[in-house]
Amino acid sequence: MTEKQISTSLQLFDSVSELPDQIQKLMHKAVEARLTAYAPYSKFKVGAALLLENGEVVAGSNQENASYPSGLCAERTAIYAAGANYPDQKIKALAITATSEKHDVLEPVAPCGACRQAIAEYEQKQNEPISIYFTGTSGKVIGVKSLLEILPLAFNNKFL
Ligand code: THU
Repeated sequence: MTEKQISTSLQLFDSVSELPDQIQKLMHKAVEARLTAYAPYSKFKVGAALLLENGEVVAGSNQENASYPSGLCAERTAIYAAGANYPDQKIKALAITATSEKHDVLEPVAPCGACRQAIAEYEQKQNEPISIYFTGTSGKVIGVKSLLEILPLAFNNKFL
């Protein structure tokens, strides 16, 4: 048996104002999208905004359902909207923000496992990484240059 270490590279920003201009704007779009969240059950509101290579921004927010599993996260709402409406446009970046009506969400909120898997599919499809930036309400932001930084050993279509 051998043991192998794998490492992840995270970019830590103390405030949104430290982000590159284009990403600051994208984060503001994510904040706007968060206001459209339909989260009557969890009271946890998430906004996501994708930057496409043509400069368009595709936004999404979490959409819940009385039948809980029928709801969908903000990140997948956005990425499937981009796939459906701009199938030939590469996705350059994704900004994510979350708040709760029940408690402070200070620390950056990383995308859930199912959303990571969905984003991985689009990196594979476009054969180019998607940079991801996520935040809470403290202003701190975590960035990664590729989804694979937060989903090591990802399952993908090469196994099929
Ligand atoms: N949620 C997201 O929108 N994105 C995530 O990455 C994690 C969770 C949503 C789903 C649900 O509406 C609420 O947050 C609580 O889980």
